[in-house]
Amino acid sequence: MEFISPTVIIILGCVAVLLFLQWKNLRRPPCIRGWIPWIGAGFEFGKTPLEFIEKARIKYGPVFTVIVMGTRMTFVTEEEGINVFLKSKEINFELAVQNPVYHTASIAKNIFLKLHEKLYITVKGKMGIFNLYKFTGQLTEELQEQLQNLGTHGTTDLNKFMRHLLYPVTVNILFKKGLFPTDERKIREFHQHFQAYDEGFEYGSQLPECLLRNWSKSKKWLLALFEKNIPDIKTHKSAKENYPTVMQAVLDLLEMEANEQKSPNYGLLLLWASLSNTVPVAFWTFAFVLSHPNIHRTIMEGISSVFGTAGKDKIKVSEDDLKKLPLIKWCILETIRLRAPGVIARKVLKPVKILDYTVPSGDLLMLSPFWLHRNPKYFPEPDLFKPERWKEANLEKHAFLDCFMAFGSGKYQCPGRWLALLEIQICIILIFYYYDCSLLDPLPKQRKRKVILYSKNKEILN
Ligand code: HEM
Repeated sequence: MEFISPTVIIILGCVAVLLFLQWKNLRRPPCIRGWIPWIGAGFEFGKTPLEFIEKARIKYGPVFTVIVMGTRMTFVTEEEGINVFLKSKEINFELAVQNPVYHTASIAKNIFLKLHEKLYITVKGKMGIFNLYKFTGQLTEELQEQLQNLGTHGTTDLNKFMRHLLYPVTVNILFKKGLFPTDERKIREFHQHFQAYDEGFEYGSQLPECLLRNWSKSKKWLLALFEKNIPDIKTHKSAKENYPTVMQAVLDLLEMEANEQKSPNYGLLLLWASLSNTVPVAFWTFAFVLSHPNIHRTIMEGISSVFGTAGKDKIKVSEDDLKKLPLIKWCILETIRLRAPGVIARKVLKPVKILDYTVPSGDLLMLSPFWLHRNPKYFPEPDLFKPERWKEANLEKHAFLDCFMAFGSGKYQCPGRWLALLEIQICIILIFYYYDCSLLDPLPKQRKRKVILYSKNKEILN
């Protein structure tokens, strides 16, 4: 009988250990490839992406990869993966969004990568927490101006109402006072093209423009609008304060970087970023508040105690007034929690370890704020509208609740988040100050809903 020498056993053992370690290091997350090469799970994923993500999490666990149209998307759903998403140096924002930016705003990838950080710092600085007070007066005035055009009472579609209020206010504040058209026909055109652009954004960010004729038409219309108005925006000086608007600061930077020809394209990106989430959030906040009579009553009492009961005079809203009405801010944040973006993405630069898996470089790392906010581990009774849960957040120190990720995260989280909150806060105060509102229908399932507006005083604002 022949014996294997101990040396051979040791060598074989070492090889086995090495192979095991290598296998463990290269062990990739479970992967959903679908049936068709390249398209992968594209059809199933494309039909109902959010449901698809949740079903895959239940079946495959907290980390899994989906192949869609040749792209590997690895989803992370719990702490270990979220920590990597938030903190790893091997995870990159810009490379994940350069393609969508190219498709939706025609900004070449090399220009985007060159300018992104500087532009982000500029925009963030303008709308940062320490500059926010500069917007309070302007927002109040612009909103009152829009409300002035409204009758004393009536019925309106809440979605349409929010758009008619917030499109002009946001455009006039971020770009230039008076930029938003006042002519009925032009207003209608703006609404039609912005909505078409916004609704097609998801497809527009991935598909060639030639396949999306109407979307492309609206994109061109909006670009032409900026093209025409950039010289005016650039030279316009605010009558009251000599404080450049956010777009004016962007234009200055583009000029310094010799990239002025891309001004309309950056204008379009800023327009979309500022309206696409804020308007639906304002709509849903009203819908939630109006369908919770106790919350509605408490908010109304708060507003009366700060501004008085009459809904006739023009009012000024100060930082201190806002601090006295915390429930309004909690309602907005709770709405944003429930209506958060479906996914945010990053690119993996070098392989990263998550649990027992290695996610390879080149993958898109995906996180779903929508599902994260519905995990009872992080948000008890996640499906309920419970503004009081925000008592726990240190909002004084500008911190949200743990695992609240509606504004993204890390270095490039949404630079407009404080402005969005402020705009909706003032919007709620003014509407509830001037009008008694109630929903005609139960809490909406679909997007459009009606609300009745009754002014408390016959002559609003006059
Ligand atoms: C409720 C309203 C809003 C929500 C939920 C929201 C959400 C987001 C999210 C999720 C991102 C991506 C962040 C990431 O991936 O980490 C983002 C980026 C951005 N948001 Fe917002 N946003 C809102 C309002 C606004 C407003 C009002 C503005 C402008 C006035 C704005 C300007 C931007 C810009 C410019 C970016 C791109 C940042 C970059 O390029 O790095 N957002 N936002």
